Amino acid sequence: MNPWQNTNSAADQMHEMLEHDILVIGGGAAGLRAAIAAVQTNPRLNVAIVSKVYPMRSHTVSAEGGAAAVIKSNDSLEEHINDTITGSDWLADQDVVEAFVREAPDELLQLEHWGCPWSREPDGSIAVRPFGGMTIERTWFAADKVGFHLLHTLFQTSLKFESLTRYDEWFATKLLVENGRCQGVSAIELRTGEVRLLLAKAVILCTGGAGRIYPFTTNGAIKTGDGMAMAYRAGVPLKDMEFVQYHPTGLPGTGILITEAARGEGGILVNKDGYRYLQDYGMGPPDPWPRLRAMELGPRDKISQAFVHEMRKGRTIAGPYGDVVHLDVRHLGETKIDTKIPFVRELAHRYAGIDPVHEPIPVRPVVHYMMGGVHTDINGATPIAGLYAAGESACVSINGANRLGSNSLTECLVFGARAGRHAAAFAAHHRSLDRAALAAQARDEAKRVAGLDGTDGGTERIAMLRTEMTRAMEEGTGIYRDEGSLSKACDVLRTLRDRFARIRLDDRTRSFNTELIAALELECMLDVAEAVAHSALARTESRGSHQRTDHPKRDDARFLKHTLAYSTDGAPRIDYLDVVITRWPPAERVYGR
Ligand code: FUM
Repeated sequence: MNPWQNTNSAADQMHEMLEHDILVIGGGAAGLRAAIAAVQTNPRLNVAIVSKVYPMRSHTVSAEGGAAAVIKSNDSLEEHINDTITGSDWLADQDVVEAFVREAPDELLQLEHWGCPWSREPDGSIAVRPFGGMTIERTWFAADKVGFHLLHTLFQTSLKFESLTRYDEWFATKLLVENGRCQGVSAIELRTGEVRLLLAKAVILCTGGAGRIYPFTTNGAIKTGDGMAMAYRAGVPLKDMEFVQYHPTGLPGTGILITEAARGEGGILVNKDGYRYLQDYGMGPPDPWPRLRAMELGPRDKISQAFVHEMRKGRTIAGPYGDVVHLDVRHLGETKIDTKIPFVRELAHRYAGIDPVHEPIPVRPVVHYMMGGVHTDINGATPIAGLYAAGESACVSINGANRLGSNSLTECLVFGARAGRHAAAFAAHHRSLDRAALAAQARDEAKRVAGLDGTDGGTERIAMLRTEMTRAMEEGTGIYRDEGSLSKACDVLRTLRDRFARIRLDDRTRSFNTELIAALELECMLDVAEAVAHSALARTESRGSHQRTDHPKRDDARFLKHTLAYSTDGAPRIDYLDVVITRWPPAERVYGR
């Protein structure tokens, strides 16, 4: 018997409508910041956070290296803007970057006041470290466990607001849109397995990225593009999805991140001959310290691309999990390693069996971040009234074709807060909810979820489909792509989508049915993966992280534009939107000089 239909019809599971003014979907940095901003903007509003995992397990917790904002007298807003736009290969919206850089220092100081233990200089001022692609040291840090401290700070701050409710371990699966307005979500309460209806006047998606569409990623298992897929299915375009960031230093096998802070603190990358190969790829000479915006502190797209060339030249080191290069921090000494990057030592020891004080760390590029996401304006508003997005799930867009390391935690704060404030204003002015119609939509979603078990003759296994999807993405849409590889990925993904309609699940339990959750996540990933592959196929130029071997040049005349991928019954429909250029005209991206 199918337990999803065991006692009552799926429709009867809608025994209770839960109602709030604002729903924040996701409990990571962007979600918590959005929720706090919303209740602070209007304390009369009733705000709820709906999170697939307990908030302290959100992927923010694994961020390591730092958060960027101008704080030192040798730095300026202009320099941070310039670095971000250059890093984006001119695909970032410049009005958005300006707002981001201007608001960033206040956000990080706000965290300080809420208790974030930022590392200090000997004189007690905030310490900053160099980071990739930045001309000046501006990355705030708390050793190399920044995400952990930042998330704790936000979570504990959120606890003091009585008007903030949490639904931990509730998996939102559908946005409820009625009369052109987003008015809630349908979500599975994982503990009971019930499909629940949550109504709200505004919904903010803060569900993170989708690195799990690739086989080798720094992303936790929860990063399956749920919010992106929900928005996409509701009619919101996914923007700039072809831009997928490979971080140059993942641990082979697990994909665990070895933070860029290791290089910020002076670590070097060498090939099998002990040679600092980045000097061969336009990243400057191996200058003495400081070597800002050069060599190992170049941008991630270029450093990851250099690895591929080294591998093709046979200059990488063969290992049990593929080729690697060495990240060497030995010269920093044990005291500095233990003070500035203790987590690097711990991770390398635990997951690679080496002690970086005495041995170099084997590393290789690993999928880390999606520059693309739910299309929003500068305030996090999507084209659907009442629907907002922030953080990695959104594309606002400050990152363009390549994000600079340490801009993303700050982005979660700045645009989480903006989305929270604007959703609060929206919610205060929109009262009526279409309850009956929304309940009907949620009932339909409950039936859809119930129907996924495949008891009507399904044969396909989700593990197999997931493996084939990640392989297609790696082979077809990796660091270098071309028309052939991308077309093949698009074809494979379409077949997988057809096969997904015939899945079969074995787990018949209701409570924490992880097989059902994995199926729903896979469905989201297939949507997101298709948006990535088709957006990449349509962009016949190379820019930032999107490198087409068949179109190796940047083509501003045709592609100084954002890609918009719309969901259809067939392949995604691709459209374009002009990039906002204000004071920084497109130029050549130069590093190492
Ligand atoms: O390497 C890192 O610590 C990653 C930082 C980031 O992605 O912003």
